[in-house]
Amino acid sequence: MATFARRVDTFGTTIFTEINTLAQHYNAVNLGQGRPDFAAPEPVVTALVEAVQSGKYQQYAPGPGTTSLRTAVANHAARFYNLDIDPANGVVITAGATEAIFAAVLGLVDPGDEVILIEPFYDSYQPNVIMAHAVPVCIPLHAPNWQLDPDELRAAFTPRTRALILNTPHNPSGHVFSRQELSLIAELCIEHDVLVIADEVYEHLLFDDARHIPIATLPGMFERTVTIGSAGKIFSVTGWKVGWAYGSAKLIEGVGRAHQFITFAVNHPTQEAIAQALALPDSYYADLRDMYARKRRLMLGALDAAGLRYTMPQGTYFVLADYTSIFQGSPMDFTRYLIREVGVACIPPESFYVPEHQHLIQGYVRFAFCKTDDLLAQAGTRLGKLRR
Ligand SMILES: Cc1ncc(COP(=O)(O)O)c(C=O)c1O
Repeated sequence: MATFARRVDTFGTTIFTEINTLAQHYNAVNLGQGRPDFAAPEPVVTALVEAVQSGKYQQYAPGPGTTSLRTAVANHAARFYNLDIDPANGVVITAGATEAIFAAVLGLVDPGDEVILIEPFYDSYQPNVIMAHAVPVCIPLHAPNWQLDPDELRAAFTPRTRALILNTPHNPSGHVFSRQELSLIAELCIEHDVLVIADEVYEHLLFDDARHIPIATLPGMFERTVTIGSAGKIFSVTGWKVGWAYGSAKLIEGVGRAHQFITFAVNHPTQEAIAQALALPDSYYADLRDMYARKRRLMLGALDAAGLRYTMPQGTYFVLADYTSIFQGSPMDFTRYLIREVGVACIPPESFYVPEHQHLIQGYVRFAFCKTDDLLAQAGTRLGKLRR
């Protein structure tokens, strides 16, 4: 008897499970998965405790999300990006951004349609497209500045292209797409009548003078963009799994139709807490940036001490490090070596590419710096051994 369906035939165990197991075995400082290891903001936790204790949110939430959270998501988009979102019909609350992306693909893409993915990509994109019986068309960002080749981008569009999944600020490179880059994507999407699924989960994690520009704000793009966000990233609560998709009512209807038969509704008390959290004053968002600026400094200091090269991340809490000056071998070989011999875990990024393109990321590994300052300092001391 077949034990699983053909549609999951090519899906292995995610690299995160494998690395977490190895890291635990060798007691390594784990800079692998993007999972903050510090406390969530106090007002956000208090809001959740109060929501649970009130006894008002023990039963199913409305399928598309609570009115309070949908309104908060719309207000957040107006406050930061001047976008006019209808909370009643233009927002769906999902079980994390991961579900929002899947619901957008299932709700908007037909079998046989092509979906453009930009490598390296968040590892659920390709399985999502495959589970929708659509066809992934992958084009890479190019090292060291992690930019698209305009000719490769242009060539990826065909009469069968239905959607492009765009992630900015970008995991794992830390690249923040510029207005010029976004304008070319927008121009091609308009020319070919293509939708954008804009994964903007790191929208508030920006450094120096980097500015996040939602592609939905570009001329002619609002009507063809579904924008996706995550409370997990904004409030360091990845375990709460609250995300959302917003956009024009027409596109969000498709996302909502899929969502209602994936999870139907999302955890009710956490929606109440996140509704309050999104309304925190500007100082919350400024402090978040300052905290990550400090963590980036610690992380880059550790890489410098190790003699690893990198391109400065402009956003997110990830950095891709080039290890070729100190180690010969594949990213997986280097990761195993680093965990075993140095006691620091990172992620080999091959699984963020289709097999035919994995050669493009040889020589790089990803480090996550959403960790306590102590842990980052400890990683720095251990990584210093590499240079010695
Ligand atoms: C680019 C990107 N999109 C989506 C997600 C998933 O977000 P969530 O935890 O809200 O499902 C992640 C998490 O690492 C991510 O890096």
